[in-house]
Order: sequence, then C-alpha cells, then structure tokens
Amino acid sequence: MTADHHLPFIRSLPKAELHLHIEGTLEPELMFELARRNGIALPYCSVEALRAAYRFDDLQSFLDLYYAGASVLLTESDFYDMTMAYMRRAHEDGVVHTEIMFDPQTHTARGVGMATVFAGIARALREAREELGITSYLLLSFLRHLSEEDAQHTLTQALPLREHYADLWVGIGLDSAERGNPPEKFARVYARACELGLRLVAHAGEEGPADYVRNALDVLKAERIDHGVNSEQDPALMQRLIDEQVPLTVCPLSNLKLCVVPTLNEHNLARMLRQGVLVTVNSDDPAYFGGYIAQNYAACAQALELEREELMQLARNSIVASFLPDADKHRWLTRLDEITV
Ligand code: HPA
Ligand code: ZN
Repeated sequence: MTADHHLPFIRSLPKAELHLHIEGTLEPELMFELARRNGIALPYCSVEALRAAYRFDDLQSFLDLYYAGASVLLTESDFYDMTMAYMRRAHEDGVVHTEIMFDPQTHTARGVGMATVFAGIARALREAREELGITSYLLLSFLRHLSEEDAQHTLTQALPLREHYADLWVGIGLDSAERGNPPEKFARVYARACELGLRLVAHAGEEGPADYVRNALDVLKAERIDHGVNSEQDPALMQRLIDEQVPLTVCPLSNLKLCVVPTLNEHNLARMLRQGVLVTVNSDDPAYFGGYIAQNYAACAQALELEREELMQLARNSIVASFLPDADKHRWLTRLDEITV
C-alpha cells in the first residue's frame, strides 16, 4: 500500500491549514510565467531545471532559493495569481479555512509597495471565500534575520491598511533563519502588536532549540508555535504544551526536505499526538517541499502508521488551533463528528 491510498479519506475531512507561507506556494510553472510577464531573468533554463534544484541541506539553503523565487512577484496580479492557485489547490484537499503567512519585507525591499502585496493576496482570498467557500486569515510575518527596527517599520507601514483588510489580517508571525535570531530579539514589536489586538504566532523549535519555544511563549506571548518539533528536547516544556494545549503547527514534509528529521519514520508527530500535544499537520512551502496538505497527512499516515481516528484528530486539532470564532469551530467540529471512520 502506498501513501496515496489514504488521500480520498484525508481529503474528505474538513480541515484548516495554519502554517503556510504564500510565497512558498509559487510553483515553478507560475514562477516562469511571472518572470516572462515581468521581464525578469531566472538563473534556470527550464521548469525542470528549477525543480531539480530543490534539494536542500538545511533551512538556509532553502531560504536562499525561496527569496530568489519571490523576486518574480511585482504586481497586484502576480500576488493574486499565486494566491488563487494555492486556494484552488487547498480546496481540492478539503481545506475549509486557511491562516496564511506572507513576508512583506521580501517585497518592500525590492520596491514593491505594501499596498500592492495586500491587495493581490486579499482579492484572491475574498474571491475564494465567495467561490470556493474557504475562509482565510492573514498573518503578517517578520523576517527574523533582519532587525527588530525593520520589523517595527514594516508594522508601521501596514497599519494604515488594517481597516481595509479587517476581515483578513488578524495577526503577526516570525519566520526565516531561526538559529542566532532568538524570539527575544522581537520582544518589543510583539508587545506592540499585542497592544494593537493582533494575534501572535512565531516559528520556533524548527532548527532552534527548545528554549526558543519557551521564549516564544514567555517573551513574545505567542499563542501558537510554528513547527515546535524540537520541544521534545525538554520534557518540562512538553508537559507544559500538553497542560496548556499550546498548538504546534507541524510541517512533516518540510522537516524531511530541510533535514530536520532524517526520515519521516523518525518524525515525532505521532508520538506528540499520542501524548496529547495539540499538533496539527500543514504544508509550510508546498511548491518547494513536494506536497500540499493532504500529501503531508498521507505521508505521515504511511510512515507513522496513523489510524483513521488519528487522522480525524489531526483535522479536529487544526480547527481547534485556528483563530476562527467559537461558533465556526463548533460547526466544523460537528461536521467532523458526523464522518464515520
Ligand atoms: N522556516 C522559517 N522560515 C520560513 C519557512 C520555514 O519553514 N518557510 C518560509 N520561511
Ligand atoms: Zn514556516
């Protein structure tokens, strides 16, 4: 039996995708199309040559290609096309709600306006809500290899747009190179965002140590941890995650491709799930890591021998861990309860 035979059941489960970088959904075909449209030269002669370059040793080797790839995004339509392609793909996988991260600094540093980035992504998300019935929230993510001052400036640039995108933009995140850029570096910008009523998430414990997870919780007051797989290094932290039901947005195929784990069989997702950690499964940067959300569930079902009841629990966790209002959570959880395993 292959991982694929799990796909129909997995796709039938209403689920939320909570850890997704929209720039990481840019498939090579669309990257070439946008490069042509915008007169930008890519250092690869074909889609196949580009895809063949997607072999990574660690997070940084991926980030180098990911930021280079994003350089084809210039206009509102570029952001719209990329986002709409993801929403259609997510719909096929049974995603009913998404909380999407985007990296404005990657674009504003190239002279693309903050308003252009918001406008293109938001147009697709609003259209997807109408046409596909998928709801979405946006998490504006700061690049942690840049300074806190740069993050503060980025937040200041985005705030005038808040009212116009009040239906979508609900929170902030923290991504990019983790090691050497600990959560404490962003304490003030997180405190400011918290004051402003924004929801708080942060990447921690992907390549960084369990301490980064603890400080994301204690110093940044993050409500949800992106990745968090290295929490297992610290039993007291693990117990806290269970007691406080802190959600972890785990990305198994990402962890495999970035060598966070040597094989999927050695991934701690199932162990954490069985211990009662509120883990969810997500795709992170599916265009780069070889699988959208259902493929992440299916690969884990296969490698970790997850039962159907456990796949259901992962879908349930994704709804519980989302920032949806309680009434919406209740509606999706009821729908999940109606599915027979
Ligand atoms: N980790 C850190 N930064 C990122 C990632 C990730 O997995 N994906 C896109 N930016
Ligand atoms: Zn990520």
